[in-house]
Amino acid sequence: MADQSVEITEGCRLPVLRKNQENEDEWPLAEILSVKDISGKKLYYVHYIDFNKRLDEWVTPDRLDIKKLQFPKKEAKTPMKNGLPGSRPSSPERDVKKSLDLHVQSASATSRGKTLPTLKRKAESVSLATQVTAATPVSSLPGSVDASQASVYPAMRDSSFSIKSRDEHEPLTSLTSLTTNGTSSIQHHHIPPQPGRKRKSCGGTHEDSQDSSDGIPSAPRMTGSLVSDRSHDDIVTRMKNIDCIELGRHRLKPWYFSPYPQELTSLPILYLCEFCLKYLKSLKCLQRHLTKCNLRHPPGNEIYRKGTISFFEIDGRKNKAYSQNLCLLAKCFLDHKTLYYDTDPFLFYVMTEYDSKGFHIVGYFSKEKESTEDYNVACILTLPPYQRRGYGKLLIEFSYELSKVEGKTGTPEKPLSDLGLLSYRSYWSQTILEILMDLKSENGERPQITINEISEITSVKKEDVISTLQYLNLINYYKGQYILTLSEDIVEGHERAMQKRHLRIDPKCLHFTPKDWSKRGKW
Ligand code: ACO
Ligand code: ZN
Repeated sequence: MADQSVEITEGCRLPVLRKNQENEDEWPLAEILSVKDISGKKLYYVHYIDFNKRLDEWVTPDRLDIKKLQFPKKEAKTPMKNGLPGSRPSSPERDVKKSLDLHVQSASATSRGKTLPTLKRKAESVSLATQVTAATPVSSLPGSVDASQASVYPAMRDSSFSIKSRDEHEPLTSLTSLTTNGTSSIQHHHIPPQPGRKRKSCGGTHEDSQDSSDGIPSAPRMTGSLVSDRSHDDIVTRMKNIDCIELGRHRLKPWYFSPYPQELTSLPILYLCEFCLKYLKSLKCLQRHLTKCNLRHPPGNEIYRKGTISFFEIDGRKNKAYSQNLCLLAKCFLDHKTLYYDTDPFLFYVMTEYDSKGFHIVGYFSKEKESTEDYNVACILTLPPYQRRGYGKLLIEFSYELSKVEGKTGTPEKPLSDLGLLSYRSYWSQTILEILMDLKSENGERPQITINEISEITSVKKEDVISTLQYLNLINYYKGQYILTLSEDIVEGHERAMQKRHLRIDPKCLHFTPKDWSKRGKW
């Protein structure tokens, strides 16, 4: 319980009561990020140290353990975890640098007279290793794999692997001892019609800008990482600013700050048109908008449909208003990405679920038209009401299907979030195990495969293949060569997981012709 005689200010740390996943009380250490007074009642915005920022919240004084109050230390530095900054929000000092870098972006964007945000990686990563188990080191290989950065062990590049199969009769002493958990190694080893006209129905003056009717500014404010008054804004941007978003039949609780216009942040609910993603300040405004908005699906081309699932490809240059609004919505759930006010270099792949009312957005990923770093995904998001139902892996699978058509390997842009890493790890593991388990032995020999072959078949970048094999602890050194050993646990675990993985991409339903953006001059 907070003692009114002690002033609890920003930067103070103390245990704060919260419920854990089992709905039990716990008192993790938290930092006060902001204090507000509503009709004489104090509220404290807290960040739980070593927890993801999405759990930050406003709490009442009775949840603070004032007896253990620590006052802010001067020059306190963010704790480092595994060489990465911890989950603590950025210190002002570091933010100054970040904002300076990004201000350059903002200036160039405004000079073009448009404010078109896209999400791009931050200059610095926020904790991602904190909640993720790091890869298990393989006993015969040095070091462990950093969870975020797949390290390449030079000797393994292009190595050929043979897969031990169950019925081989070689002595397995060395192998068995290397197998995980000491188990005996088993082994194997229509395209919907486009709204064809320029829509001005929402009162806006330009198709590509957020409507300025309803008293809402035509563009999001240039705050966040793009602010010039940095000291103030860093405090602002590290707190979630929108309480609730109504999107179709869903109410979403944002996890992080998103630079929607300031006057909208005091609203109890921000209303979004679920088809064009335009934001409106009231239900009445939304209803009026819906009488004029003709969209029942994202703009762009429908390039995939199977059952009720569709994917639309949206060009960030051609559909700026939509892309901008998508980025604003996505930023509510993406912390480690910075809004850049230029969507031109990106394509957006929006996944929808169809019913009689239309094509409802489930999630999306963005992709640079040209990536020098082999990125095939910039940002990826499943909207919270759809999370943990396999849609994230479906989006990832789709991104690799596009890479296959392009004849390239790809990798997601770094840093990955904690949930992003979990999803990619899971996708890579299942994809690689699917291939290994399908390998047939020829002439009684162990099946053989190279890292390059796995990478070519899956379009998963080589580094990610290697990090996954290491993470799964499959690689062993045996009789002068690297072999992959699939333990019974791995095989059974994989089979169980695949039985549950119902949502899959059917490549036959993909109608996609990659464009050579380098030949197009400007996108
Ligand atoms: N806790 C534990 N595991 C989780 C959680 C969670 N909250 N969420 C997903 N997972 C695991 C799942 O268990 C699953 O693994 P499994 O099948 O082996 O059990 C795997 O991650 C994928 O689950 P899906 O249901 O397919 O993924 P989902 O639809 O939930 O989407 C995503 C995953 C896109 C990362 C989602 O959590 C999200 O949008 N998060 C917010 C935005 C974000 O962090 N995006 C990634 C940033 S990195 C980048 O943009 C390149
Ligand atoms: Zn609309």
